[in-house]
Amino acid sequence: MNILNALFKTSIGKKVIMAITGLILVGFVFGHLVGNLQIFSAPEKINAYAHLLQSLGPALWAIRGFLLLTVALHIWSAVALVLENKAARGAKGYANQQTLRASYASRTMRYSGVIVLAFIIYHIMHFTTKTTHGEDFYPMAMLDGHLVPDVHSMMVFGFQQVWVSVFYLVAIALLTLHLSHGISSMFQSIGLRSRTWATCLNKLTIAVCILYFLGNAAIVGSVLSGYVKIQNPNLQVAMGELCTPDCNVCETRIAANN
Ligand code: HEM
Repeated sequence: MNILNALFKTSIGKKVIMAITGLILVGFVFGHLVGNLQIFSAPEKINAYAHLLQSLGPALWAIRGFLLLTVALHIWSAVALVLENKAARGAKGYANQQTLRASYASRTMRYSGVIVLAFIIYHIMHFTTKTTHGEDFYPMAMLDGHLVPDVHSMMVFGFQQVWVSVFYLVAIALLTLHLSHGISSMFQSIGLRSRTWATCLNKLTIAVCILYFLGNAAIVGSVLSGYVKIQNPNLQVAMGELCTPDCNVCETRIAANN
């Protein structure tokens, strides 16, 4: 049996596919969080970062294609393993016994997975294809003399909508639950989860997952609480938060106060 047959035709092969694709996706979500945390820095930082990614051109499409293939393989191996387990289980009594022993996170893997997938589709329409909201939600800003998408303001506008923020928080909580079981299973599938360090691995996984949730929640919460605000001068003028230097109305107000 060649290696591809072993990977795609056997249960252990499918587990390895799920573990490797899971590892790549874990790398992506953590990397993505680190990039997004730049919202706490000057707006130019995150705008420059997003502009850099966009300017990768064909390389960006190659990365997107690779991620899409990774997600597809992750879902395929998960569905195939569930079907194999169902077929192998047979007796109902055994199934009940398994359910009792499994953790909440492991029992809800398929539901959290489906909801996270729905979130990703919405999220891409929200921030990448920019199709969920009107064009006012997707402003532009100056960066080194060029007009670029103002990702900082887009994120602020996005999370100022309470229902959007709640949806993100629920989806990220479910993703965290999914990761908490997925990461330790991943170590088991690739044979790196021995009895001696299983407890330590579980604790480490939980700590990392909590940090992951808090990092994302901090982004959403800082906008909702008003800590992170719109800092694009053109938008601030339009919103009446900042005045243009040649504004007659404010000069009058200043004169009247004096
Ligand atoms: C608070 C949480 C999050 C924020 C603030 C956020 C922010 C963003 C932004 C601004 C973009 C668009 C980048 C651009 O095109 O300029 C984006 C794209 C994306 N995000 Fe997120 N994201 C969050 C959570 C997530 C999560 C949890 C996932 C995955 C489970 C995810 C997956 C993606 C994907 C797949 C893209 C498309 C990348 C591309 O091809 O351009 N994001 N995100």
